[in-house]
Amino acid sequence: MAETSIKSMDAIVSLCKRRGFIYPASEIYGGINGFWDYGPLGAQLKKNLRDAWWQDMIMNPCWGRPGPDGEPVRCVPVETRIIQHPKVWEASGHVGGFNDPMQTCRQCKKLVRADHVDEMLREAEWFGPLVSLFESGDHLDIDRLRQWIKKYGAKQAKGMALVREQKKVLELLLALAEDLRNRGEEMTLHQFLQRIATPPESAQLCDMCPNCGGDLTAPRAFNLMFKTFVGATTEQTDDNAAYLRPETAQGIFIQFKNVLDTTRVKLPFGIGNTGISFRNEVTPRNYTFRSREFEQAELEFFCHPDESQDWYKFWRDFRMEWWQSIGLRGDNLVLREHDPDELSHYSTGTSDVEYRFPFTAPGFGELEGIAHRGCFDLSQHQEHSGAKLDYFDTERQARLQAQGLPKDEINKQCRYIPHCIEPAAGLDRGALALLCEAYTRDESRPSPEIMRFHPRMAPIKAAVFPLVNKDGMPEVAAKLHAELFKRFGHLGFIETDPKQSIGKRYARMDEAGCPYCFTIDSETLTDQTVTVRDRDTGAQERIAIDRVTSYLEERLDG
Ligand code: GAP
Repeated sequence: MAETSIKSMDAIVSLCKRRGFIYPASEIYGGINGFWDYGPLGAQLKKNLRDAWWQDMIMNPCWGRPGPDGEPVRCVPVETRIIQHPKVWEASGHVGGFNDPMQTCRQCKKLVRADHVDEMLREAEWFGPLVSLFESGDHLDIDRLRQWIKKYGAKQAKGMALVREQKKVLELLLALAEDLRNRGEEMTLHQFLQRIATPPESAQLCDMCPNCGGDLTAPRAFNLMFKTFVGATTEQTDDNAAYLRPETAQGIFIQFKNVLDTTRVKLPFGIGNTGISFRNEVTPRNYTFRSREFEQAELEFFCHPDESQDWYKFWRDFRMEWWQSIGLRGDNLVLREHDPDELSHYSTGTSDVEYRFPFTAPGFGELEGIAHRGCFDLSQHQEHSGAKLDYFDTERQARLQAQGLPKDEINKQCRYIPHCIEPAAGLDRGALALLCEAYTRDESRPSPEIMRFHPRMAPIKAAVFPLVNKDGMPEVAAKLHAELFKRFGHLGFIETDPKQSIGKRYARMDEAGCPYCFTIDSETLTDQTVTVRDRDTGAQERIAIDRVTSYLEERLDG
């Protein structure tokens, strides 16, 4: 199969618009930076992702696999509000610490985020040709680079003062490469990007406004929470101010006590929450990757402190396996354990599941973080609210009583603030990774763009086509379509389309990522068989029409 391995983000964005996966929000008014809408196929793709998370994390956690204690994993859902009491965000640390380092341009007055140099460089028009220099063996050929600078060096990078000084960037790159070569090393693209994104090289590149080239002020903290005002009041003051949540996690912590008191859950157990979060990102970019409104799917798993490391490892490994199970396989997905100096003061472990998006390649971008949060959040809310958020462990109590421990000692050991493991996934980033992974070009096909979604994620599950729109075929197709819709309609679209050549109809389904097409032809009318066409191979086989439902059941359920 003549497939190309390098995926073009432009091609993916264009297909997503053309086929109704993703649209710019408020497009008819010129769009609004950092906000995206989903069209019919995108909305269903995201629903499939959310449903899979809900099913595999809450309803049947970890596919029924036992936890490290040998017992089934127990989880329950909540659905909490976007607006909460403002004190929630003081306790969580978001009012005081949820900041990005910002610089203001003295000339154009725009805000600039100081730590995004590498992303800005990637947007420069010379970045693509530069990457190609590394592609032969991933190492930089300095002589080719010199020739390349001669050719491109004078050209200006579009609208970016940071790289308006393109020559400066290239000189720096050359100096870095020569420096490495003098030390007997060769520079990879990855090393180059790391070097220019960290001081002192980044400082050399970042001394002017990327928008107009003006002078920048010293960095200062910019809070990412959106503020609003609650209630019918003419005065908008701090007394009626509130925040749009920057994460769904805090809704779980503040309902922890209610869940304990109103259900029969016992530690260890998890509470899951999905929903929209808002962050006033300074530099929303890379399509939906960093948006100002996005959806999260977070689980807080509460356990005894002594068992928390085992649960941390368990969730970290399961979450990686889960993303693989829905189609993000191979080298594009990695699990990266944070270095100790990257951890928050209360965390004893954090890992990220990262995906190699076309715009981060050869690097990776975060899809989900799995963090050991200790007892930080419950302790903070206990302190700020005055409510008691500890837990009395009756199962441990029974065990210690059987061992004959004194009552005081038992009470001391059995009352504690649980520790918490947090797998926090982004559903928009997840959907974007599914779209990037699915996108395939096969030049040997008449219509080369194919979206190879995992069948569980595919927004269109199946299509039924009459070969021609006459001779009794449309009626048979309509009957089969109705049957399939009744059985599988809750999982996604079941399409039918009598118009155009069959090749064009297949091509449309390939672009939308529909895994199976069933065609009714003249043979169907005599022997009750249909053709089933596989999206990925284009291969066709004949099966009995009354086997179509079980054929799909075997491939779509789970
Ligand atoms: N409660 C922990 C928490 O919110 P996070 O790493 O800030 O952790 C979790 O966010 C996930 O939410 C990220 O891994 C990412 O997938 C998604 N996410 C965060 N900020 C985002 C943004 N601006 N746009 C899209 N997704 C975002």
